[in-house]
Amino acid sequence: MTDARPYSPGLEGVVAAETALGKVEGERGQLLYRGYRIGDLVEHGTYPAVANLLWTGDWDPNHRLPTAPVPDAVMTALRALPSNAKPMDALRTAVSAWGATELLTYPPTPEQARGLTAFSPSALAAFARLRSGKEPIDPDPSLDLVPGFLYQLTGEKPDAGTARALDAYFIVGAEHGLNASTFTARVIVSTRSDLASAVSGAIGCLKGPLHGGAPSEVVEQIHQVGSVERAEQWVKDTLDKGERLMGFGHRVYRAYDPRAAALRKVAESMEHPPEWLALATAVEDVALRVLAERHPERALKTNVEFYAAPVLMGVGLTPDLFPATFALARHAGWTAHVIEQAADNRLIRPDARYVGPAERDLPA
Ligand code: COA
Repeated sequence: MTDARPYSPGLEGVVAAETALGKVEGERGQLLYRGYRIGDLVEHGTYPAVANLLWTGDWDPNHRLPTAPVPDAVMTALRALPSNAKPMDALRTAVSAWGATELLTYPPTPEQARGLTAFSPSALAAFARLRSGKEPIDPDPSLDLVPGFLYQLTGEKPDAGTARALDAYFIVGAEHGLNASTFTARVIVSTRSDLASAVSGAIGCLKGPLHGGAPSEVVEQIHQVGSVERAEQWVKDTLDKGERLMGFGHRVYRAYDPRAAALRKVAESMEHPPEWLALATAVEDVALRVLAERHPERALKTNVEFYAAPVLMGVGLTPDLFPATFALARHAGWTAHVIEQAADNRLIRPDARYVGPAERDLPA
């Protein structure tokens, strides 16, 4: 008997959840969190205010969330990691160890989400210092989450412009519909498992190169271009070789990625943007023109990674911290989805089409 049920590899086109959190409008180039436009949230909000909006539905632009201390047991686990461990592995380990110390109960709550979202930046900052032989720094409760993270990373309180720039990156990274890691988190909690298990699974999912983003590759490509005069030739040569331009194209957006537009504004208004920001905008102009000439049938526009690169570099992060920093930002969305899933839960348990041998006897 053949199995006639529909099968969609990668679950493409399958609606697997209802959500009131994020709406990605690819044709129009718009991203909404609970109905609010991403550009407006970046302009008027902070990451803690946006996270609170996702968790509770309430918009309070003054909502604050300082980073939280790392429990001793988690710090012991971080100290035991090799210094060449990947920051994403360290963060996943830290979230898992935090779950073991917190003994979270089901269903997940905004309070649990707040606790984990406040803890993780401290854990990543602690690992980043430990691996270079420095001691971790305790949270400063007078600082909000993003400046607090930068302070614990560097030992210096960031200036307002630097903190604002990274905060904008956190806001645009907070939520993006039912992407692979968010789906992972929802699957985990659908078994009535806990919020820390869901987020450590989501971090493992985000670690894969098909999901985790490409801002460090954008940095590499801009360095390869070298100068504004070389931009046009470099773009054409790269495309002639069949290679892709990093920071362009998107599975969902057919218009300019609204997150890129918001981050471009932020990058251009930074007090200390990386020297190559002007080169990057020149490369963007050329790339958009050449991509339109070569692919008139398909809109290939700038995506979020292109301007995430100068923002992350400009605030002083090293490229190997980019994926884990993205994971910190996505905590708000993951945990909001986990709360939403638990509020109207149905165990997520799809089926597989069996294509193996028919029933048979073991060889004698
Ligand atoms: N540079 C050059 N050509 C590109 C391109 C890019 N960045 N993105 C897509 N294309 C071309 C492809 O080569 C393809 O043409 P072809 O079939 O003649 O080779 C066509 O556009 C369709 O590409 P496709 O891979 O079907 O698009 P997708 O929607 O599956 O892929 C991405 C989306 C993001 C994976 C893809 O655009 C990409 O690789 N971008 C660069 C990496 C990047 O910026 N990633 C971060 C995403 S947020």
